[in-house]
Amino acid sequence: MNIDRIGPWSEIKLEIVKKYLSAYTTVLKNRGFHFSYIDGFAGAGQHFSRENSKVVPGSPLIACQIDEPFKKYIFIEIDEKKTLQLDEIKEQFPNLDIEIKAGDCNPLLIKEIFPHITFENYRRALCLLDPYGLHLDWNVVEMAGKSKVIELFINFPIMDMQMNVLWTKRISEISPAQVIRMNKFMGCESWKEKVFQQDLDLFDEDRQARIPKAARVLADYYRERLVEIAGFEFVPEPLLMENTSRAGLYYLFFASPNKTGNKIVKGIFSKYRKGG
Ligand SMILES: C[S@@+](CC[C@H](N)C(=O)[O-])C[C@H]1O[C@@H](n2cnc3c(N)ncnc32)[C@H](O)[C@@H]1O
Repeated sequence: MNIDRIGPWSEIKLEIVKKYLSAYTTVLKNRGFHFSYIDGFAGAGQHFSRENSKVVPGSPLIACQIDEPFKKYIFIEIDEKKTLQLDEIKEQFPNLDIEIKAGDCNPLLIKEIFPHITFENYRRALCLLDPYGLHLDWNVVEMAGKSKVIELFINFPIMDMQMNVLWTKRISEISPAQVIRMNKFMGCESWKEKVFQQDLDLFDEDRQARIPKAARVLADYYRERLVEIAGFEFVPEPLLMENTSRAGLYYLFFASPNKTGNKIVKGIFSKYRKGG
């Protein structure tokens, strides 16, 4: 068994995803569309809670358990041991159309999955892109946005950025390999100008959010790119996910072509915001 231990912040993310998945299928069930759930970084389908060691359903299992099921499920996972555990979930739900793919989700989504989800063939999809670090390729995000029928939840991994890129004020000190990872994730090189500006000191901690100010600047820029480059009509303010010491770990983004989806997620996010 290859089961990850997850912190309370991941359980909150799963709660949010569960709420939206249920709302999504309830809204779409009688509209004549073929709607899929796609989990790009699926994991094993279940985890252990760090708080009480209980088994917690992961995003693939949550998606299979909702009352109004999706027409199709696609789970992608790079770790083959975890895909074997996903196979067990598939066996538990013989009535659901579940496809499990082993490998890197970036080329799989671009070449094999997203091309079949189009406006013209009445397809819709909700896709969760939840890596541990900077493993998501911007081209995936841009293709989803341009489709006008795919909605995304995206994990914007501040911790990875902080450890590998935002630890220094001097760009010359960052390893070229880490710069390439950031370029791939952001989909551009202009992120460098946003944070490594002589006259700005963005490397102090934003005390309220407990993240470097530079991470906030990059998240704002990513949000701008989701709208202007990828063409998502609705990208609400992302939700900062924090650990138990209230340090920011990642932003949870939602990006959608759909007004109703936006309204629902804004409502859900507002309940989980600090002080919200
Ligand atoms: C944060 S976990 C996913 C957790 C899952 N969303 C949940 O909440 O239950 C990220 C997973 O992505 C997998 N992974 C990492 N890089 C990947 C890639 N390029 N393509 C597909 N899966 C990948 C890891 O093995 C890990 O299981």
